[in-house]
Formats: sequence, structure tokens, C-alpha cells
Amino acid sequence: MVFMDKDDRIRRFSTGRIIEHWLAIITVGLLIITGLSQKYYYLGISQWFILQMGGIDSVRFIHRLTGLVFLALTIVHILVALVGVLFLDWRPTMLITKKDFHDAVHNIKYYFGIEDCPAPCHRYSYKQKFEYWVILTGAIMMILSGIVLWIPTTVTRYLPGEIVPLAKVLHSNEALLLFIIISIWHVYNAIFSPDVFPLDSSIFTGYISLKRMEREHPLELAELLQEDIKNVQKGTCRGHKGEVKGIANL
Ligand code: HEM
Repeated sequence: MVFMDKDDRIRRFSTGRIIEHWLAIITVGLLIITGLSQKYYYLGISQWFILQMGGIDSVRFIHRLTGLVFLALTIVHILVALVGVLFLDWRPTMLITKKDFHDAVHNIKYYFGIEDCPAPCHRYSYKQKFEYWVILTGAIMMILSGIVLWIPTTVTRYLPGEIVPLAKVLHSNEALLLFIIISIWHVYNAIFSPDVFPLDSSIFTGYISLKRMEREHPLELAELLQEDIKNVQKGTCRGHKGEVKGIANL
């Protein structure tokens, strides 16, 4: 099978996606530490972090600077997805479709023993899509409210003053929500879930095992095999390390 490497692993994420994920881990981690230590300034652990980072002014400076990097990262992510889908023929695999609702119902039936197997998944399951959209919309809300908190006098020249306390409540509580979602849900799925334990390394190595593809993404695998057969028949195979084209790894 031409799209596999010698260890029977399939290329799932491009180098760009791997770098993007590392940057997301670093920036979101820093924003959570510098943000939550301001929100819960009275806790011993926050005061320890603040002292380690050189005092409250320095914590606020690091938070804003990292916020700018996070803003750039989010804009690049959205632009790459739009250009890929609109001009490069990528498939918008993260879009929520009717099948996701059917799959969710199917899996509930499966958990109750009414269905024999879980719903077969393509590139992303409905759970992965849900997590993605919660994080992306959360990121956009954090950026918009963060800008209001940063330059309140400029913003209130154009918008009513109530926007400032609104941004404060939203930024502060959404931060806690994102922290809980990332530290419980995302970390469970990427590390502690029995399907991937001790670590789903695909976003760090770019590869996923054939076994996991068969179990977790059978529809995508079937399509890749089909495509491969066509390519082999046409005599245009992609080489064993070839990227899987036509599927946007958003
Ligand atoms: C995942 C992303 C982010 C998280 C988890 C986060 C978290 C927080 C938290 C918990 C606070 C303290 C709120 C309080 O005192 O109740 C805060 C304050 C603040 N954040 Fe964020 N934030 C994020 C992104 C951003 C971004 C993108 C920006 C700017 C574009 C930003 C700018 C600010 C500003 C200006 C403040 C007010 C504190 C200060 O004056 O430095 N934040 N953030």
C-alpha cells in the first residue's frame, strides 16, 4: 500500500499541523497560567507563579504578548482552512454534517447494547468535531474579549460602555471553561482513553497506525485504499511517505 511507511503507519498530519499544535500547546498553556494566576491571585500557587514570572506587571505583559501570538495563530489557522477549501480542493472535514447526528444516536444505541458496533467514522468523529468547534469558538471569544480588556477606551469610542464588564465576565469565565475542557476532556482523549493510552502521538509524529485507522477511521481508510487502487492502475502512486491529498487535515 503506497501511502504507508515501513512500520505500517499512515501519514495523518502534515508538518505544518504538527508545528501549529506545538504552538497552540505553548501559547494556550502560557495564557492559562498567566490568566488564571491573575483571576485567582489570592491562592498560594498563583502567588508562586507570579513571583517566578517576575511580579504582576510582568505576568500581565507576558499574557498580552502571548495573546498576540495566539491571535496570529488563530487567524493563520482560519485563513489556511479557507484558502485550502476554497482554492486547493481540500475537503472541509471538520464541518458538522447530518451523519454526525446519526452517528451520535447510533453510538448511544451501541452503548446500550442495541447496536452491535460503533458508528464507522471518516476522518474525524462527531466527538472530535464537537471538541474542535468548542475550542475554536472559545478562542475567538477569548481574543475579542481580550482586545476589549486591553484597549477599553478605544473600543468604547465605538461601542457602548457595557461592553467592558461584559468582556471581563466572558473572558474570565470562558478561561476557566476552556481550562476544564482542555485539561479534562482533551487530555483524557489524547492520553488516558483506553484506545490511545499512554499517548495519541499522531499529532506529534504525523503518523497513525494502520490498526488504529481500521478501528477509528474505517471509512477514511476505505477511501484511501480505493484511491490507491486507482492510482496504481493509472501508474501514478504517491510514494510511501506521500501526503494524503484532497483531505484537509484541519
Ligand atoms: C486561551 C486563551 C486565554 C485565556 C485562557 C485567558 C485567561 C485570562 C484570565 C483568566 C484573565 C483574568 C480575568 C480576571 O481577572 O478575572 C485574563 C485577563 C486578560 N486577558 Fe486573557 N486569556 C486568553 C487570551 C487572551 C487574549 C488572546 C488576549 C488579548 C488579545 C488577552 C488579554 C487579556 C487582558 C488584557 C486581560 C486583563 C488583565 C490585564 O490587564 O492584563 N487574553 N485572561
